Amino acid sequence: MAQAALTIDGLSVDFEGFKAVNGVSMIVEDGELRVLLGANGAGKTTLMDLISGKTKSTGGRVFVHDTEITNWEEHKIARAGIGRKFQIPSVFKELTVRRNLEVASCKNPGVFANLGFGFSAKAKIDEVLELIGLTEEAGQVAAYLSHGQTQWLELGLLITQDPKIILLDEPTAGMTQAETHKTSLIVNNLKGRHTIIVVEHDMAFVREIAERITVLHLGQVLAEGSVAEIENDPKVRAAYLGSKGIT
Ligand SMILES: Nc1ncnc2c1ncn2[C@@H]1O[C@H](COP(=O)(O)OP(=O)(O)OP(=O)(O)O)[C@@H](O)[C@H]1O
Ligand SMILES: [Mg+2]
Repeated sequence: MAQAALTIDGLSVDFEGFKAVNGVSMIVEDGELRVLLGANGAGKTTLMDLISGKTKSTGGRVFVHDTEITNWEEHKIARAGIGRKFQIPSVFKELTVRRNLEVASCKNPGVFANLGFGFSAKAKIDEVLELIGLTEEAGQVAAYLSHGQTQWLELGLLITQDPKIILLDEPTAGMTQAETHKTSLIVNNLKGRHTIIVVEHDMAFVREIAERITVLHLGQVLAEGSVAEIENDPKVRAAYLGSKGIT
């Protein structure tokens, strides 16, 4: 049986009487890619904030594998293996793509030490460059990257930290169609290597990456299933009425 990487049990947060996340339970398996869908204000970002420790929950529990991390400090949750890509850029604009990855990997030398003797840091960085599709741009100064390339580098910086679980909130925001498509290829490359939770509105993108989808509505889990199951679910269709719609 597959092991649960992340277990969320009845998680809630109460903002002075308003339950933005209200009793959410879900289990994400090791190596799984889970998509979180939901209309604006459904509670997706707040759920990510609760998982990463940015926001403290007022009810329920969160586990990474068998370790309970409920309401731990954010940095401790990061150390427990939950990595989050923020909109706030952490790329050093004046450094090359490769140097950015080197700097990020130095922040966590343990990762390379753990890989054992004979495995060079350069090989690891080459692998990350390949994964994020920036091998040809390795020597380029980050300031000259496109918006999409900068986002991929951000993702690369995160991967360098080797998190067990990666949280991505709308990774294709502001991207062109071509960049969005390439992002789906990158996310597909990461499948199986990391457990990934992606919040995304763009259904074309979701169809390219999704296995299992959890739909949030008014802070609660409305439905869970495959892309086809979710798209044909009358409850989901009804929840999206009045918003910009699921497709
Ligand atoms: N710190 C806070 N205090 C009070 N209300 C909040 C707080 N953070 C979020 N909310 C509210 O909680 C609800 C859920 O917000 P959240 O940002 O999680 O939605 P979302 O599903 O990510 O939406 P979107 O698709 O627009 O990003 C919204 O009604 C929002 O206004
Ligand atoms: Mg959001």
